[in-house]
Amino acid sequence: MTRRVVLAGLSLAVSGCLSDPTPDSASASGLSVSAEQALLTELAWIAPDADKLRILTQSPGECLRSPTKSEDAYLVEVGRAAFSSPLLFGGQAARGGLSCASCHRDGHDNSAFFLAGLSGAPGTADVTSSLFSKVREDGVFNPVPIPSLVGIAGKDAFGAHAPAPSLHAFIASAVTDEFQGAPPPDIVLRGLEAYVAWLDPAACSGAAPRNVRRDMADVARALTAVGQALRRGDEAAADFLLVSAQSALGRIHERFAGPDLAPQREGLESLAGKLAAARSALSGDAISTANQIESAIAAMDLVLSDLNAHRRLSLYDIDRLEAALKTIGEVKE
Ligand code: HEC
Repeated sequence: MTRRVVLAGLSLAVSGCLSDPTPDSASASGLSVSAEQALLTELAWIAPDADKLRILTQSPGECLRSPTKSEDAYLVEVGRAAFSSPLLFGGQAARGGLSCASCHRDGHDNSAFFLAGLSGAPGTADVTSSLFSKVREDGVFNPVPIPSLVGIAGKDAFGAHAPAPSLHAFIASAVTDEFQGAPPPDIVLRGLEAYVAWLDPAACSGAAPRNVRRDMADVARALTAVGQALRRGDEAAADFLLVSAQSALGRIHERFAGPDLAPQREGLESLAGKLAAARSALSGDAISTANQIESAIAAMDLVLSDLNAHRRLSLYDIDRLEAALKTIGEVKE
C-alpha cells in the first residue's frame, strides 16, 4: 500500500552553505538562512496544538551518568553528539533535520512530536513507515508512542514491532533499516549504544532553559571528543563528530536570524569554517586538523560571549521567539 504522506515542513530543509562547498556537508553544516526556510527546523515536528514557546525554550534535562572508565567516557561523548545529529539518517529524515533527539528529547519521550504521515496522536511515530524506509515499510499505519530511553539498558528486548535482542542491534537497525542512513562507522553505533546505556533515572539534571551557553557547550564537548578521536587515530569518528558539530552550529545560527545579528552569524560561520578546514585536513594531515580544532576551541569563548551578549535579540529569547512565531502564524495573536 502506498500512503500519501504530507511532509510538514520537511521539504524546507537547509540548502546551501557558507563554509564548505561540498554538497554532502552543505546540508550538514546548515549555516544558511533563506526567507522561505522555516524559522527553526524543529518547528517541522512540533504538534500544531503543542506549547511551541515552551518546547523551544525549555529542555526536559538529560539523565546522563558519567562513566568512570575513559573508554566508556569517550564512547558516551561520541554517542551524545550523534544522538542530536541528523547525519545518521538518510533521505527525507536527514534533509528534514531529524535526529534521535527530535523524537527522544534529551533521551526522554516527546509528547509534542508530530509529523503528518508518520504520527497518529502527538507523541507517536510509525517506525515502519515508507516515509523513512522502504526496508521497514509494512504497509500498515501503526504509530506507537515514542518511549523514554532513560533506564532501559537492562531490558532484554528492545522495540515492540520488531524486537531486537540488544541495544546495539536495535540501534543499528533503526539507523540503517528504519531511517535508511548509510551505515555509520561502527564507533558511532557503539557510541549511541553507550550513550543510551548510561541514561539513568538517578542522574536526571532536571528541566532547564534552552540557551546559547548550553548549545555552545554541546559543540565544545563534541570538539573535545574530536581531539580524543584524533589521539586514537580514529578518523571516521573525528569526521563524524566534526560534521555533527557543524550541524549543531547550524542550529544555533538559526536562532540568530534577523538583519541586526549579522556579526553574530559571522562569528558562527567563521567557527564553522574552521571545522570545515579541520575536516579537509583530516585525511592527510593530523597535526593540521588538531591545530584547526584547537583554534576553533580557542575562538569559541569570544564567539560565545558575543552571542550571549546579544541573546535578547535572538530566538533564544522567549519574547522575540513569540513575536517571530506570530509573524509566521505559528502561534496565535
Ligand atoms: C521518528 C521518531 C524517532 C526517531 C527519530 C528515533 N526514534 Fe527511537 N523510537 C521511536 C519509537 C516510536 C520507538 C518505539 C518503537 C517500538 O516500540 O517498536 C522507539 C524506540 C527506541 C528504542 C527502544 C526502546 C525500548 O525500550 O525498547 C531505542 C533504544 C531507541 N528508540 C533509540 C533511538 C536512537 C538511538 C535513535 C537515533 C538513531 C532513535 N531512537 C530515533 C521513535 C523514534
